[in-house]
Amino acid sequence: MNPSNHVRIVEVGARDGLQNEKTLLPAEVKIALIDRLSATGLQTIEATSFVSPKWVPQLADAAEVFRGIRKVPGVSYPVLVPNLQGYERAREAGATDIAVFTAASEAFNRRNINASIDESIERFVPVMEQAQADEVTVRGYVSTVLGCPYQGEVPVADVVRVARRMYELGCDEISLGDTIGVGTPARARAMLHAVAQEVPIDALAVHFHDTYGQALANILACLEEGVRVVDSAVSGTGGCPYAKGATGNVASEDVVYMLHGMGMETGVDLDLLVATGAWLAAQLHKETASRVTRARTAVG
Ligand code: HMG
Ligand code: MG
Repeated sequence: MNPSNHVRIVEVGARDGLQNEKTLLPAEVKIALIDRLSATGLQTIEATSFVSPKWVPQLADAAEVFRGIRKVPGVSYPVLVPNLQGYERAREAGATDIAVFTAASEAFNRRNINASIDESIERFVPVMEQAQADEVTVRGYVSTVLGCPYQGEVPVADVVRVARRMYELGCDEISLGDTIGVGTPARARAMLHAVAQEVPIDALAVHFHDTYGQALANILACLEEGVRVVDSAVSGTGGCPYAKGATGNVASEDVVYMLHGMGMETGVDLDLLVATGAWLAAQLHKETASRVTRARTAVG
């Protein structure tokens, strides 16, 4: 059992959330979103993504957004990069923390980044080398850890192999992503347990999408297994454009509510987060997917 009572939330709404929303938000609204998130006490806020704008037009304004946000001391603002070209764009905009990504499923990688697992890893070797030279921190995402929209089952051994490889290459943290939200608590826990035999638990994070309403239960199982870094998106926005049927990420408000209810601390002001979730839903003209925000808004 991990004795630490502190959970670090990695807020991914401005990237994972907005990359899959039909409504294209102007750069100034994205900047306002991140500035509001910075005021909630979150320590890590994924700001945007320097992928190909042809593949993800929602985040084509990455440089403008990154330059425009207020960087609060002590808060990190990682950005997603798929290759050296993305890395250079991110650095030019001033990024000092990046995230690279691949999947445990061959079929998903092909659709998401037009490469096999091995090719995708080859692609980010030079990114990692450059990042190490520049003292840039690198998070590594492994997608489809509990199922793939194209190949179905994903063997745990494949998840372990990819996570270990990314860790060996120098990723500071590995986020294990249930991209399509098909996991259930016992499987989530078993997968995390297997990966933690090869990568220290303190270097692992969990990333759940909430397609079947399992995300909070999965997070709880993984907390019991010892993880202390949890990804989530304010208002439960998002999904993956290359994972049909995947719904939003688990809502940050719901995660923080659960953690505080368990006596764990996050450093996040839940009221400010709820207000930000409601504000974002209004910008997107949609109902918030956070149960906490809906309940609070309903009672005024
Ligand atoms: P490609 O078409 O195979 O690449 O895309 P290419 O190298 O042949 O380049 C094609 C064109 O893209 C060229 O331009 C490049 O310059 C340009 P053209 O000559 O045709 O005008 N290009 C770029 N432009 C800007 N920034 C770049 C960049 N790279 C190439 N960085 C590529 C390969 C990887 C670029 C593409 O497939 C891509 O950008 N994919 C991104 C897909 C994506 O963002 N998916 C969602 C993120 S992953 C996720 O959400 C899962 C996660 O949340 C965890 C989970 O839930 O499991 C992290
Ligand atoms: Mg995701």
